[in-house]
Amino acid sequence: MRISGILASLCVLARCGTAIDLVLGDEDSVKSAASTIAFGLVKYYTGNNTGDTPGNLPDPYFWWEAGAMFGTLVDYWALTGDDSYNAITTQAILHQATEKGDFMPPNQTRTLGNDDQGFWGMAAMSAAENNFPNPPEDQPQWLALAQSLFNQYASRWEEATCGGGLRWQIFTFNNGFNYKNSISNGCFFNIAARLARYTGNETYAEWAEKIFAWEESVGLIDANLTVRDGVHVSLEDGSCNSRDENQWTYNAGIFLHGAAVMYNHTNASAIWRERVDGLLASTTATFVDPATGVLVEQLCEPSGFCNTDQRSFKGYLTRWLAGTAQMAPHTLDAVRPLLEADAAAAARACTGDPAPPVFRGHPGTACGFRWTTGAFDGSAGVGEQMNALSAVMYPLVVRGAAAPPLTADTGGTSKGNPGGGAAPAHEEVGIGYAEITLQDRVAAGFVTSALALGVVAGSAFVIL
Ligand SMILES: *[C@@H]1O[C@H](CO)[C@@H](O)[C@H](O)[C@H]1NC(C)=O
Ligand SMILES: *[C@@H]1O[C@H](CO)[C@@H](O)[C@H](O)[C@H]1NC(C)=O
Ligand SMILES: *[C@@H]1O[C@H](CO)[C@@H](O)[C@H](O)[C@H]1NC(C)=O
Ligand SMILES: *[C@@H]1O[C@H](CO)[C@@H](O)[C@H](O)[C@H]1NC(C)=O
Ligand SMILES: *[C@@H]1O[C@H](CO)[C@@H](O)[C@H](O)[C@H]1NC(C)=O
Ligand SMILES: *[C@@H]1O[C@H](CO)[C@@H](O)[C@H](O)[C@H]1NC(C)=O
Repeated sequence: MRISGILASLCVLARCGTAIDLVLGDEDSVKSAASTIAFGLVKYYTGNNTGDTPGNLPDPYFWWEAGAMFGTLVDYWALTGDDSYNAITTQAILHQATEKGDFMPPNQTRTLGNDDQGFWGMAAMSAAENNFPNPPEDQPQWLALAQSLFNQYASRWEEATCGGGLRWQIFTFNNGFNYKNSISNGCFFNIAARLARYTGNETYAEWAEKIFAWEESVGLIDANLTVRDGVHVSLEDGSCNSRDENQWTYNAGIFLHGAAVMYNHTNASAIWRERVDGLLASTTATFVDPATGVLVEQLCEPSGFCNTDQRSFKGYLTRWLAGTAQMAPHTLDAVRPLLEADAAAAARACTGDPAPPVFRGHPGTACGFRWTTGAFDGSAGVGEQMNALSAVMYPLVVRGAAAPPLTADTGGTSKGNPGGGAAPAHEEVGIGYAEITLQDRVAAGFVTSALALGVVAGSAFVIL
């Protein structure tokens, strides 16, 4: 047994309490807890090692989750002031944006979905909104990166099937091309809303309206503001009558936050208020465990069947709940207790001590996946660690310890390029890439696995 293991056992006997001390009302305590958890998170990252590729997480983590991680680290810096990870964050985002600034690295072609790009694009958007140190002038700039992605999305909007929407996959040869899903359209919606607010350009706001209306038109957002996973495009007639009804935390969260940004941008319009309130009610009704008052990935967490991707979704919901309270202050009273319960519960789950390579952070501070148990549940990884970091740091937002995201008019300094990122020519053909193997198709990302899992978890497929 390693020394830390012995200490952990002694600790259990002596009831040492949590390895991560968290006093929610004490900003220093929150920052110190966040720092401990962030340290364990970044230890998973190998892209800073000599000879490795900046921006990549090792297997089994897909490219998109690295984008999500750097987005979390941008917020970590903005909320705590700790710039320990700024250099690797800038390097990773710029490397994966490539010199074209379009977040279409050829290495990722075999699995590149609109949602995968979206998590990198949202990291760039957060960097712009927080005045994360700007890249050198000869490199792509944060705002321009988000605009480039917006323009790519707009060029991929496809009315011929389902009356609009983005497909999940970008390339026709990838599994998932015939699926139009909420997370891809949610990334488009979220970025459009934030660009509208940041730049004041109404074209972005019009797109946000249009995307939301499309989600409603195909039943992906229903009258109760429940967000479903996606619709299948029929190969026979292009209709979209087969829907995956599954509810995931990140789908609800990404639309909730975007709606709150639109509410703010439209100076509290009634329509966006109704949407914000409905999405928030549906989110809390679905994803808050009644017994403990904390978030659960209800579809797979109770059964223990969440895959690697799904084990990171809850963290994004906490990020977007905090952003919602900021943009739509009337939601604060509902959001704050939830975020604070999550923070306390997540910290209690950060007492794990698995040996490397499972965990390389400070011994006894690995974070588990379940927040409902009051203890480490044995599950450790990037998702678990990132969820806990989010849970612990985002309450700083609802306690007023964080400035609201900037705009071009309130001090945002990132340079934009509204015309950047027209659809790259190679998108049409995808030639020059090796034949796609079955393994690649299986690897094609998270919704496929979600679908396979759904069978186990009791998924409802509705044929209309
Ligand atoms: C990344 O690598 C550089 C160069 O080896 C090193 O100075 C730095 O501390 C590393 N950063 C992190 C966060 O590991
Ligand atoms: C693509 O892969 C090559 C070989 O591993 C690597 O050198 C390059 O940096 C990668 N490009 C990106 C954008 O990740
Ligand atoms: C909305 O919720 C109500 C009450 O739970 C339910 O009766 C109704 O069927 C739901 N509507 C839809 C479209 O799911
Ligand atoms: C919101 O209000 C501000 C200040 O009154 C005004 O400048 C802006 O044009 C309004 N925005 C919208 C979308 O109505
Ligand atoms: C928009 O967000 C800002 C920053 O949090 C807030 O001060 C303002 O009250 C919000 N506007 C509306 C209409 O809620
Ligand atoms: C507003 O955004 C649209 C869409 O990207 C762009 O075509 C237009 O040039 C922008 N307008 C301004 C004034 O920047």
